[in-house]
Amino acid sequence: MPWPKVTSVVKPDANLEKRIDDLLAQMSVAEKVGQMIQPEIKQVTPQDIKDYHIGSVLNGGGSVPDNNRYAKAADWVALADRFFEAAADGSDGKVYIPIMWGTDAVHGVGNVVGATLFPHNIALGATDNPELIRQIGEVTAREIAAIGIDWDFSPTVAVARDDRWGRTYESYAEDPELVRAYAGKMVEGLQGAGDTSDFLNQTHVIATAKHFIGDGGTINGIDRGDCIDDEQTLCDIHGAGYISAIEAGVQSVMASFNSWHGEKLHGHQHLLTTVLKDTMGFDGLVVGDWNGHGFIEGASVLDCPHAINAGLDIFMVPDPDWKTLFTNTVEQINSGVIPMARADDAVRRILRVKLRAGLFERDKPSCRPLAGRDELIGAPEHRAVARQAVRESLVLLKNKNNLLPLSPSQRVLVAGDGAENLSKQAGGWSVTWQGTGTSRRDFPGASSVLDGIRDAVGAAGGELEFSEDGSYQQKPDVAIVVWGEAPYAEMQGDVQNLLYKESAGRDWALLQRLRAEGIPVVSLFITGRPLWVNRELNASDAFVVIWQPGSEGAGVGDVIFTAADGSVPHPIKGKLTFSWPRDPDQVPLNLGDADYEPLFAYGYGLRYGEVDTLGDDLPEAYDARFEASDAMPIFNRRPIEPFGIVLEGCRNDRVTMTGNSAQTTSISVTAVDREVQEDARRAVWNGAGEGLVALTTRDRQVMVDYLENNGALLFDVKVDRAPSAAVILRLGCGPNSNSDLEITDTLTNLTGQGWARVTVPLRLFPDVGSDFGLVLPPEEFFYRILEPFTLVTSGELDLRFSYVEVKKAAAGEGIEVSAC
Ligand code: BGC
Ligand code: BGC
Repeated sequence: MPWPKVTSVVKPDANLEKRIDDLLAQMSVAEKVGQMIQPEIKQVTPQDIKDYHIGSVLNGGGSVPDNNRYAKAADWVALADRFFEAAADGSDGKVYIPIMWGTDAVHGVGNVVGATLFPHNIALGATDNPELIRQIGEVTAREIAAIGIDWDFSPTVAVARDDRWGRTYESYAEDPELVRAYAGKMVEGLQGAGDTSDFLNQTHVIATAKHFIGDGGTINGIDRGDCIDDEQTLCDIHGAGYISAIEAGVQSVMASFNSWHGEKLHGHQHLLTTVLKDTMGFDGLVVGDWNGHGFIEGASVLDCPHAINAGLDIFMVPDPDWKTLFTNTVEQINSGVIPMARADDAVRRILRVKLRAGLFERDKPSCRPLAGRDELIGAPEHRAVARQAVRESLVLLKNKNNLLPLSPSQRVLVAGDGAENLSKQAGGWSVTWQGTGTSRRDFPGASSVLDGIRDAVGAAGGELEFSEDGSYQQKPDVAIVVWGEAPYAEMQGDVQNLLYKESAGRDWALLQRLRAEGIPVVSLFITGRPLWVNRELNASDAFVVIWQPGSEGAGVGDVIFTAADGSVPHPIKGKLTFSWPRDPDQVPLNLGDADYEPLFAYGYGLRYGEVDTLGDDLPEAYDARFEASDAMPIFNRRPIEPFGIVLEGCRNDRVTMTGNSAQTTSISVTAVDREVQEDARRAVWNGAGEGLVALTTRDRQVMVDYLENNGALLFDVKVDRAPSAAVILRLGCGPNSNSDLEITDTLTNLTGQGWARVTVPLRLFPDVGSDFGLVLPPEEFFYRILEPFTLVTSGELDLRFSYVEVKKAAAGEGIEVSAC
């Protein structure tokens, strides 16, 4: 086996194990299971915590006490107190186990308005400063402690290998060595050094290395996709961060949504138990990801012994129906489906972490030294660390004629929609999960990039004009254009290629225009990943990647200007920890590739004064298909990757169509010709009971963009025999999570009419009334489509379908039928 044995700085402690033995001996099965269940704060009451002996809770991205975005530290602590007291209520004679609360402080406590938000991890990678990472961990821990929370779901130690992945910015580097150098430091910062009295004291929190394992290595960079690296590669690349995290004494590891060779990590006994626990020697707890156990084959969110048996210790189960999972798990332990020894081991690990964290000895959150102290949230000394991180993370890609650093005593024009845009600056996991839907008022105390430029210019007696569109009253000496990606997070941030297409060419046009007016142009590019920006590079004299700098945008101004006396207080120093592409589809592209030909290599980053030979004539042509993300093709002569066809009959007989025909109890499907050989499918329902045919994928597709942009589901259909019962067109997002729309009349009217195109506006699909409405808030449904085209009927029906796609700007008033 390739995996190393790792030695943690936190040593086994016989006395502590003895305490665990005593506690375990007093606990009932129900009390044990309570420790293994982690509901979301919106789905659990203090009474539930008492009744179900709940061991931990989480708040998801954007989830806040009382749904109040502007909750103060005291409001967080008050809720934490209620949970604490419910767990501590001894009136039922149960043994006392303190509760803990976990949150996603992935670049500072993003869920708290006014918190210090650090540059995202990709930017921190560019600083190449592990000691700074440790400080960031410390500051983050203090702000978490201020809201009464004990546990951080961070650091992400993913080694992102395909930059189309929407979580690339959560990764420090494509190079495992750097991730290894950082992960342990972040753990040390958050938890305190494992061999000192700082360790998990009241100013530190439990850290989580996530997502174990291979999250950054999925095929095509698809979030929650499949990693098919061999085991040695999995260890060498994706295991690197876990090694230093475990050495530093990390107490928690989060299982990943992704699969390894088709098997979901949440159910992967070899990787969770044999590798992580038995071989690498991790003795803390393994927590699941957001209902992630429900994707294990044969399991569901509410019924999943598989995960516990594989080595998961805590179910993260935001599902409102988590009590069913509780009951099922109790039963499975009682009946031996889950061996008692395994349950005891899970609880032992949880208790070990709680004991090490001193939770048993702690009074309620509001009595803890940092809790409720609003002045710690976004404290000046915390922001100073973030500002330093901003300064050190900037990467200079182009500096024609040494345009940078700029003199601040000239006439400066600031333009672009990123200059005064805290949402873009902060990126995902900022106030909201995806970082969308925020405005400046959600970032009190923060500074924009414009703020920093204004300060620098103002202090030196220069002049500044700001206009987003680059118009000006008086011709400037230099233009600084701040532009780039809008915020995103997991799933929604996945892209098909690396073409920068955020503004449909508007930013490029702005740069070109200013250039044409004879103004030297500095581009400040906000991004969560390397993107193909050859056109924008050509149209800029200087080009700085500022990543997503977080709440301290003013740090950018510190670096791009000289002091008034011409000295350079903060020379630029960032270096790429992700290779920059030469083409939009140069993916994956990583240091060490056999034919490694990036535009800018790993480690690239100019210093001031260095000679830059890049020039203005990088190739600008690209394949038009890269623009085509207005549509998601699903079936075109064949199912389009990653889709496949499945059928399901009335006896739950589900088959995947692999050849050119497939059959179940109530439906059969064959490949037939429309224009060319086997470019369509014929589906025949026999009326024996409900049958369905679906275009399906294991990798959830992001639909929200289509929904919000007047999207429609289009398909070509030829109905040869009219439906004898109702026909449902279904969007499916997993077991029992469907949105059903009846289309019987449409199909009846089309019978015998030959091929026709049916266009169904996505907004017609009902959000509630089906099971998914209970499981997920309706708007989330559209992040998670697995089966964007499903036809269901219990009656008889004979039809053919060929072209299927989801397309923006295609929706009309209602369902429309046109010739094709
Ligand atoms: C993410 C995790 C996160 C969890 C809780 C999941 O969807 O993958 O990184 O910790 O949600 O918010
Ligand atoms: C939650 C996130 C979570 C995500 C998973 C969101 O609603 O707020 O924390 O990571 O769902 O799908």
